[in-house]
Formats: sequence, structure tokens, C-alpha cells
Amino acid sequence: MAGLAVNVDHIATLRQARGINYPDPVAAAVLAELAGADGIVVHLREDRRHIQDRDVYLLRKTVLSKLILEMAATDEMIKIASDVKPDLVTLVPEKREELTTEGGLDIITHTATVEKAIFALHEQQIKVSLFIDPDTDQIKKSREINADMIEIHTGTYCDATDPAEKDAAFAAVIEAAKKAFQLNLGVNAGHGLCYNSIKRFKGLKEIDEFSIGHSIISRAAMVGMQQAVTDMLTLIKEL
Ligand code: PXP
Repeated sequence: MAGLAVNVDHIATLRQARGINYPDPVAAAVLAELAGADGIVVHLREDRRHIQDRDVYLLRKTVLSKLILEMAATDEMIKIASDVKPDLVTLVPEKREELTTEGGLDIITHTATVEKAIFALHEQQIKVSLFIDPDTDQIKKSREINADMIEIHTGTYCDATDPAEKDAAFAAVIEAAKKAFQLNLGVNAGHGLCYNSIKRFKGLKEIDEFSIGHSIISRAAMVGMQQAVTDMLTLIKEL
């Protein structure tokens, strides 16, 4: 059975929207673990738009399952990862202007940078996963440069609205998972997965773990709404 790593970035997005100290992604991580999450994921972005350095350091102390740090392959991030020592680093591409990570890391174009980052992180005994598009050449290159795992970008599959395009994108994800598995790479998958798109993975043995954030945090905002309003009403009635 595949595992679930819960990304709590968007709890930090809510906090940063007001520049205050709640809601806290560290508290959300505790609740996710209590619900059975197999890992906690955070993306420390160069612009610090959601997760802050403080979150990563605190999570290292509080996460009981597995801490997965998503980051760009930059010297600044490698230094932080070497200090924090997450259980896994997932290297992702990063553009300042994007809303979220828009595509996989092109490790064929950026082989030297990614290889150097993997080497530096391995020296610190940190395992490395590469977030890549479902593409055979990218998978082979990941193996060549010593990645421990890949994370297959599922965004094209999740975002497709045309049924034929969706089928083709899903087939590409499956093919990529099987190829990586054959090459002895660990296989994670994520981006855009929701309560519908996840259903199609039934029976697939090659995926170790799904990395899911936005849909879970969005649902939490909805299913937790009644309790939040009731709590406030109780306080108001007591005024
Ligand atoms: N995996 C990676 C590498 C990501 O960058 C993200 C988004 O931060 C996710 C998974 C989770 O995507 P989503 O929030 O759409 O579930």
C-alpha cells in the first residue's frame, strides 16, 4: 500500500497572508500525523512566501514520521538542508513568479547543478528525490546521477480536462512509475492530486508515496468550518 506525505505549505500561506503567528504549519503537521500521515512535506521557497526557516527547524524537532524538504538546488538551500537534516530532500525547479511548482526539474539541461546538489546532500547522509515530469530520459538521467528516488509530476494528469488528454497523461505517469521501479529508483508522485484524481491509482504497486497538499488543506478548511463557527458562537454567547 502506498503512503501519504502531507504538504502543509498552505497552512503557512494563510498565516503569511496576515503576517501573524497562526495558523501554524507545525501544529497542522502534528494533526496530520495523528491522522496517520506517513510524512510531512514543506517547500522552503527562495522568496519565503509561505514556509519560513523557523518552520523547517521546528518541524525537524516535532515531526515523528518523516520530514521531507522540497527545495531548489541552490547553495543557500543545500546549506539549510545540511543543517536541518531532513529525512528526504526533494529537488524542485523554482521560478519566482509561478503560483506553484509548474513543471518537473529538467535534469538533462541542468545535469551538473543537480548532480552537484545530490553529491553534497549525500555527503550529509541525506537522501535525495528529484521531482521530474513522467519522461523516460529524465528517469534514466536520475538513475545515472545517483538520485535515490524520483517524484513523478502528476500535474498534467490532474489538470487535464479533455478525457483523451487525461488518459494519455495518466498513462505517461504509470509508464514512468514502472520504468523508475525497474531501474531500482524509489517512486513518489504528486502535484494537483485530489479526492477524485487519486482514485485512478488503484492497484498500482510501483508508487511508494503520494505527496499531497492543496486538496487536503482545502478540504480541512471546509470540513473544519462548522466546528470553527460553533467555537466562535459559543464565545460570543458567553459575552
Ligand atoms: N510535490 C511537489 C514536488 C510539489 O512542489 C508540490 C506543491 O508544493 C506537491 C507535491 C503538492 O502539490 P499539491 O499542493 O497540488 O497537492
